[in-house]
Amino acid sequence: MLGLLIALVQLIAFTQAKSSSGSRSLVIFDQRLIYLDDYSVFLGSLKERSFELDYAPVTNDSTPVELFDGEARRYDNLIVFPIKSRHFNKQLSAEKLLNFYNEGGEIMAITTPDGVADNVRVFLNQLGIFPSPKNYQLRDYFQDNSELVLHLPASKVLNEHVVPKNDGEIVYQGSAALLGDSDLIIPVLQAPRTSYSEDGQKQGGKWTIGSQGYLAASFQTLKNTRLSWVGSVDLFSDKNSDSNKHFVQELTKWTFKEKSVVEVVCSNHAHSNGLDYSDVPYKIKDEVVYNISLREWEGEKWVPFVADDIQFELRMVDPYYRITLTPIGDSSFTFQTYTTSKFNLPDHHGIFTFVVDYKRSGLSFFTDKDVKAIRHLANDEYPRSWVITNSWVYLTAIYSVIFTWVIFVALFVGVKKSANVPIEKKTN
Ligand SMILES: *[C@@H]1O[C@H](CO)[C@@H](O)[C@H](O)[C@H]1NC(C)=O
Ligand SMILES: *[C@@H]1O[C@H](CO)[C@@H](O)[C@H](O)[C@H]1NC(C)=O
Repeated sequence: MLGLLIALVQLIAFTQAKSSSGSRSLVIFDQRLIYLDDYSVFLGSLKERSFELDYAPVTNDSTPVELFDGEARRYDNLIVFPIKSRHFNKQLSAEKLLNFYNEGGEIMAITTPDGVADNVRVFLNQLGIFPSPKNYQLRDYFQDNSELVLHLPASKVLNEHVVPKNDGEIVYQGSAALLGDSDLIIPVLQAPRTSYSEDGQKQGGKWTIGSQGYLAASFQTLKNTRLSWVGSVDLFSDKNSDSNKHFVQELTKWTFKEKSVVEVVCSNHAHSNGLDYSDVPYKIKDEVVYNISLREWEGEKWVPFVADDIQFELRMVDPYYRITLTPIGDSSFTFQTYTTSKFNLPDHHGIFTFVVDYKRSGLSFFTDKDVKAIRHLANDEYPRSWVITNSWVYLTAIYSVIFTWVIFVALFVGVKKSANVPIEKKTN
């Protein structure tokens, strides 16, 4: 039965697209800034990974970009190239972008110093990503003569789940952003220490100085909707594809949920002797086991999810237990099972939650919860007095008093008084 189920799950997995969420994508671009032919490697690799691309060129007339069909999303993914047009606000407002993102649509937002439309900026600001103002360019006097093209080591990428480190370099020309301090923001690429961003024409203030700035950042909501922002369109262009291909590919894979997606296959708990809650409800101090099976989407198929920091908690308001789960069984399946091993329920009755709540930056979040009552002992379930060693002293006292009393009474009643009491005659 289980085998059949697994086979079925695999079958579904194979007929699916590479993305675990969906493949309908819309590419929004400004014809005055972008020639799509310059990005053929990037767009080609998306098509290769079975994404269906629609194109929406932004023009002077303001026909709105429709992201929704009534209530339903028309697209799963959105790629927003740099946009200069002032009309773009009317075509797609920041609220609509936010709405699309809220409803689970993944977004890849690319901006440049001269191509960051107000709606895109407002939308990014709401997530805590603050791209530099118009015409602010990232510079680094310690690199390159033109000062504008930066070569960054690809080993400096900040999150392994988003982009795995490799030995190459990343060619970057564009702007930097400041990041808010939300836990949901995932910094991906940091500006070099010797860089800064400022407006070349106006000698004015600087937006970022040194490693304060970020060149690429991602965001994942609690509902696991993903977004990435990159401050350079050159990063995606064909002329840099030799060095940047790895970075671009991994970043888009992450954003469009082709990887680092973790899922709970099943979870259960039971008495350590195999009987589960429906057979015998839990009572305090029972010995139980909790198991959970996890898998990870890898672009092609589900693979076992392997980690050593998954914790189980038994909570009633506060955690009574926090146990690090250990893997069991072989991982030749499409998932990995973890167990708490046997543990005793606390000496406290009430409504408890069996929960695994796993939130790691760069991986999709998952929570598995089950609420169960733990009852107290019934009157006849307490240990008898003679089982408790401490009570022996009292038991001995009680029974010795009874015993002596009985002896005393027996002696009192049974032993005859001696009759030969000397009778003294009255002599006076
Ligand atoms: C768009 O409008 C600008 C001025 O608002 C004009 O310079 C440009 O030629 C127009 N482009 C097209 C494609 O109509
Ligand atoms: C947990 O896994 C172990 C090992 O596979 C198994 O013996 C046990 O029955 C499982 N317990 C539950 C509650 O599924």
